[in-house]
Amino acid sequence: MEKYQLFLAKTASQQIDSIQSYNIDGIKVWLKKASKRHPKWLYMLATWATRLFNVQLLTPVPNYGGAASIQCEAARIESLAAIGVHVPKVLAVSDQGLLIQDIASDDHQLMQLDQTLAIAEDFNRRFTLFKKAAEEIKKIHLHNGYLSEAFGRNILVDRDLNISFIDFETDPITVLDLATCQARDWLCFLFSTAFRFQEHERPQVEQYINQLLHDQPTSLYQLSKLGRRFGWLNKVKVEKTGNDGKRMKIFLMLLQGLKV
Ligand SMILES: Nc1ncnc2c1ncn2[C@@H]1O[C@H](COP(=O)(O)OP(=O)(O)O)[C@@H](O)[C@H]1O
Ligand SMILES: [Mg+2]
Repeated sequence: MEKYQLFLAKTASQQIDSIQSYNIDGIKVWLKKASKRHPKWLYMLATWATRLFNVQLLTPVPNYGGAASIQCEAARIESLAAIGVHVPKVLAVSDQGLLIQDIASDDHQLMQLDQTLAIAEDFNRRFTLFKKAAEEIKKIHLHNGYLSEAFGRNILVDRDLNISFIDFETDPITVLDLATCQARDWLCFLFSTAFRFQEHERPQVEQYINQLLHDQPTSLYQLSKLGRRFGWLNKVKVEKTGNDGKRMKIFLMLLQGLKV
């Protein structure tokens, strides 16, 4: 058996965490273990809420868990790599897990976009990081691609601001059309990043997104529809419900500033 396949077969069943890194002959690798699926009732509740509010964009994407999500991740990595997206190299796949290579090239330290935005105090630095990631997402869309869970924690950035994408256990195209999958990427991305900008910084971010998406009318339309449908949350002072509420408020204000 090939060395990576052998390592995966030996290690997956002993690994406790769902993801862990190892070193194999000087190569850093990550083993993702087949995990349990999300509770079915939660999925049903979210589907029901999506229909009630008539916002297709919020349709929950099922995570089947186990071997199915492992196979899904391997296949999605291959198809994204084929259109030039920077994703991890798949070393071995089995029903028990997935072995992928660390995305960092040698001395390039990687961080989640989430963390880099959190620690960067300077607006220009945060805005540059934000724009770099947004440009990469748009490039993927121009190649008729889409991501899975395009949150800041699944976008990795290195010292030279190279952007990579990880975490593909789900495939939104199984429940949404391509245009909605792409709008959903913006939803995940903006929801997880907009709150890193202060109120006085938001106009610039808003203007940038309006420009970036001016030739992506479906994404703009779906995002702004979401902003209109849930605008009332800000009227009832959703920000008073804690950090998630604050995050929601800033996100909704950004959506409301989009011009369709
Ligand atoms: N190929 C990789 N290269 C570098 N870091 C990785 C890689 N895969 C996973 N990681 C690290 O592990 C974390 C969790 O991986 P992820 O695939 O997002 O799993 P989960 O489904 O648990 O969110 C990532 O945020 C990243 O820090
Ligand atoms: Mg993740």
